[in-house]
Amino acid sequence: MNILSPELTAVLYLIAAVCFILALKGLSSPKSARRGNLIGAFGALLAMVVVFLSTELDNVLLILGVIALGTAIAVPASRLVKMTQMPQLVALFNGVGGGAAALVALLELTHVDGLGSLIAVAFTVLVGAVSFAGSAITFAKLQELMPTRPIVFPGAPVVISLVALGSLASAVWLVLTGDVLASYVLLALGTALGVLVVLPVGGADVPIVISLLNAFTGLTVAASGLVLGNTLLLVAGTLVGASGTILTRAMASAMGRSVVGILFGAFRGGSTAGSTAMSDRPVRSSSAEDVAILLGYAQRVIVVPGYGLAVAQAQHTMAELATTLEAKGIEVVFGIHPVAGRMPGHMNVLLAEANVPYEVLAEMDEVNPQFKNCDVALVVGANDVVNPAAKTSPGSPIYGMPILDVASARQVVFLKRSMRPGFAGIENDLLFEPQTTLLFGDAKDSLTKVLTAVKNL
Ligand code: TAP
Repeated sequence: MNILSPELTAVLYLIAAVCFILALKGLSSPKSARRGNLIGAFGALLAMVVVFLSTELDNVLLILGVIALGTAIAVPASRLVKMTQMPQLVALFNGVGGGAAALVALLELTHVDGLGSLIAVAFTVLVGAVSFAGSAITFAKLQELMPTRPIVFPGAPVVISLVALGSLASAVWLVLTGDVLASYVLLALGTALGVLVVLPVGGADVPIVISLLNAFTGLTVAASGLVLGNTLLLVAGTLVGASGTILTRAMASAMGRSVVGILFGAFRGGSTAGSTAMSDRPVRSSSAEDVAILLGYAQRVIVVPGYGLAVAQAQHTMAELATTLEAKGIEVVFGIHPVAGRMPGHMNVLLAEANVPYEVLAEMDEVNPQFKNCDVALVVGANDVVNPAAKTSPGSPIYGMPILDVASARQVVFLKRSMRPGFAGIENDLLFEPQTTLLFGDAKDSLTKVLTAVKNL
């Protein structure tokens, strides 16, 4: 249907682009994130409807069928996914976006001419294929369909370099000749490159690579906007590319790592894969009642939430414990590490869900000086983000990552189920220190018991 004038189409595209910008703005705070998401979804819907009303489309029924199929898969997948599995879902959706852009560019090859358009096609096919294949591998790693550790084989750097050079050569071939065969070779080599570049990434670095590939998909979509002459794709892709790049850098620096180190660290033995060899030194464990006494007679408590809080879904019990302690005149602060959990802002989202007020959440730099004046640091399902090895052991995979300075608190209580390590797979010496007490068990069960005991004090 071609019932919208080009002017009206441009205005509606502009409105959709503004929606995307407002969506990003909304996502910058947990308070407005839900609204931001809805505004972004409205922008995407508007853009799709405008395409239908402003273009003479062939195969409309097929397109509608595919949209219905995609919706039927995506809606339940998004509704059913657990919060802790969000990174792999993002990886999957992101990869599909990159792959789709690459396929569209491939199909457009016979309709475009001019050097600029051919460069855009080559870029879209190559980066879209890398993004698709790389995202598929990150999904498989995080879903534990394949080993999460870095996978390195003899001669890998040489193979990667050859495939990268081959990809560049095919891109040049495509740009110079517009040959369809060149585009297929480029697609195949780009797919191989995506797999090869992500295989050596492991452990805590995988979610960062997801964010990097997300930025790649944004750039691919922007380039496909050039190919199709669609300004909205250009704007939306640029927004995704730019925000993905900023997020990748922020995550990498919060972990004290460089993006190059993350991608190629395994070849130098510098990835965060960790080792699972654990010592059997004794630890001090205690009961929920003892922990309640420690907390109930403290003046200042700093709670350090981590991935385990999300796994146990213990945020509501944690929030109730904090309110109960506050009602007894005890000051409670939540110390939030930027990479606690498995995705940026994971702890903020979790605690916001339990209505923990923003005023009691303190970022790492703000809370670190407070630990030395705190009576109890209550570490709920966190490990790597409080592991002193990040400061003291140059050989450790997390060395250089800024951590929460829990060790300077007078007493440290860890709530965890076992002596298993955290995501980076390394032992935490703090568990064996004299000021540390462990309360073993699922965080929700333990917090429920501690809460009951605190109320009975
Ligand atoms: P982790 O170091 O992964 O430690 C989680 C702890 O929670 C473990 O000690 C685990 O011990 C415990 N746990 C798990 N389930 C539990 C449950 N049901 N009840 C009680 N405890 C439970 O978490 P962290 O300190 O939050 O650090 C996050 C890690 O993820 C860092 O290495 C970070 O680099 C990485 N990472 C984060 C991000 C972002 S952006 N957040 C992105 C990529 C990587 P048990 O098994 O013994 O219970």
